[in-house]
Amino acid sequence: MARRERRVEFDEVWMRRYLIAANWKMHGSLEMVHKFAEGFDQGVDLGADVVLFPPAVYLGAVQGLTSKYVQLGMQDVGVASEGAHTGEIAASMVKDVGGSWVIVGHSERRTDQSESDVLVAQKFASAIAADLSPIVCVGETLAQREAGDAFAVVSKQLQAVIELCGVSALVKGAIAYEPLWAIGTGLTATPEQAGQMHASIRELVAGLDQDTAQAVRIIYGGSVNPENAGLLFAQDEIDGALVGGASLQAASFAAIVAAI
Ligand code: PGA
Repeated sequence: MARRERRVEFDEVWMRRYLIAANWKMHGSLEMVHKFAEGFDQGVDLGADVVLFPPAVYLGAVQGLTSKYVQLGMQDVGVASEGAHTGEIAASMVKDVGGSWVIVGHSERRTDQSESDVLVAQKFASAIAADLSPIVCVGETLAQREAGDAFAVVSKQLQAVIELCGVSALVKGAIAYEPLWAIGTGLTATPEQAGQMHASIRELVAGLDQDTAQAVRIIYGGSVNPENAGLLFAQDEIDGALVGGASLQAASFAAIVAAI
């Protein structure tokens, strides 16, 4: 709380709202959706954006069971706006069924589907064009960190989005810093490591546009759980979390949301 108040003193205009996102990846079932909805009963506006990213086929089921304070999104989106692209889902379709967010460039897609920085940027652009909020994921491997290249990798990933969409577009979505070595491994970046990278990202953006740098939300992802969430959120530069494993159970995701 102090963090918010401090920021308000300095600047009346920008107050970054926390963003807590649940990335279910390829997990879940109708049974799980029902169980989750029973346990995750967010009945008030906590002053944060709470967003669920179930597998696309469960979007409707989740929507029917969650409160108006829970927003919905897709874990990926197509580049094209429509047409003969079997298996793809257009950003406008996500919007049409009540989604408001998409994740682009998750490291699992960059790896499994060989998604390039340019493709990720195109997906970011297609989300913006459909009036959705894209979360662009960036992050380095352990080898890249050990070689001292972490920031270079992250900034290259981000530059592709900035070049295609313009720096101010970042404010329409968010940036998720997800070091690959911390995803699903139980290894979390220390709050200081994450805070430092977030500060470097914000500095990069500030070099292009100060207002965007102050407003853009930079969230952390990589083994976030109820035990470490509070320490991460206490970092001034961390505006929320993209949660994988710990978002599959209502109780642990609720505890992470409560940590704000
Ligand atoms: P994790 O996944 O919380 O299971 O590490 C985070 C993510 O990949 O978004």
